[in-house]
Amino acid sequence: MDAMTTVNADPAFLHDVLAGLAQPQKAVPARWFYDARGSELFEDITDLAEYYPTRAETSILAARGAEFAALTGPGRAVVEFGSGSSAKTPHLLGAIAPAAYVPIDISGDFLRASSAALAERHPGLPVIPVEADFTRPVALPDEVRGLPMLGFFPGSTIGNLIPASAVDLLRSMRKTLGTGAQLLIGLDRVKDTGVLLRAYDDAAGVTAQFNLNLLHRINRELDGDVPVDAFRHKVVWNDMLSRIEMHLEAQRDVMFAIAGQRFAMRAGETIHTENSHKYGPRSGTLMLLAGGWTPLAEWMDADGLFSVVLARAEEPRMAP
Ligand code: AVJ
Repeated sequence: MDAMTTVNADPAFLHDVLAGLAQPQKAVPARWFYDARGSELFEDITDLAEYYPTRAETSILAARGAEFAALTGPGRAVVEFGSGSSAKTPHLLGAIAPAAYVPIDISGDFLRASSAALAERHPGLPVIPVEADFTRPVALPDEVRGLPMLGFFPGSTIGNLIPASAVDLLRSMRKTLGTGAQLLIGLDRVKDTGVLLRAYDDAAGVTAQFNLNLLHRINRELDGDVPVDAFRHKVVWNDMLSRIEMHLEAQRDVMFAIAGQRFAMRAGETIHTENSHKYGPRSGTLMLLAGGWTPLAEWMDADGLFSVVLARAEEPRMAP
């Protein structure tokens, strides 16, 4: 193996890839899609005609500001989990008269750039970025201690997690924000299977490139020789588990090495790269309750494709 390459590799990426490919159903966690190229391709996905979630959620955020404001009141610290480019945030901040904005993201460079742009759009609003992994409880900056909190988790990003992990994440957000906090969260809904499949397998092949980029990233960062041309983007709707799955399917028998470890795959065998769970009218709110969040209100776009839920972390009390 090329020691130079793997010495510089992110050890968590290396671990997840080697451990994930050693499983009977090969799998790599979806969070590794987002290198610079992957983030760019995801931005392109959000512009696709077939990819409805971004447009549907943005339409809800743009239309329902007055209702959000009535329920949250003014003066909250808005804490965004995995803020990325913060593209949807101005709609919320413009509507509710917040006291501060705290974007949390693991990618520091991206975070600082988007925070600066956002601060410029909202003069007078303290913007306090925190570089952290929000899957664990995060210590919030001193400046917002004591303020009422509003967590913001748009994009149905929670849908990447299997329900057990989603509940862990919701509980950890509750720890971060504290009792009395509110959470505004985007949840993608179950809908016509054709619409779902096309949203993840677009005609222009952008989502295919996004999926295949993971193999390029492995080759580049983990000293791999995966024959990318031998793989195909595959999307399935798993009805029992209510989720879209993305896979990379070997088109022929292949052998390759990653960081000196050898792997073999049969034609038709897949690497499972992403789950995107879709929620029904009750399953989303049940998941929130299991994670310690009591739903207060729910909004949908005009076509019923996507929902945004406002929930509250209630005081623990005796229940019947
Ligand atoms: C960023 C997780 C919300 O699941 O719809 C888009 C990622 N993957 N197309 C989603 C994604 C393929 C997206 N999330």
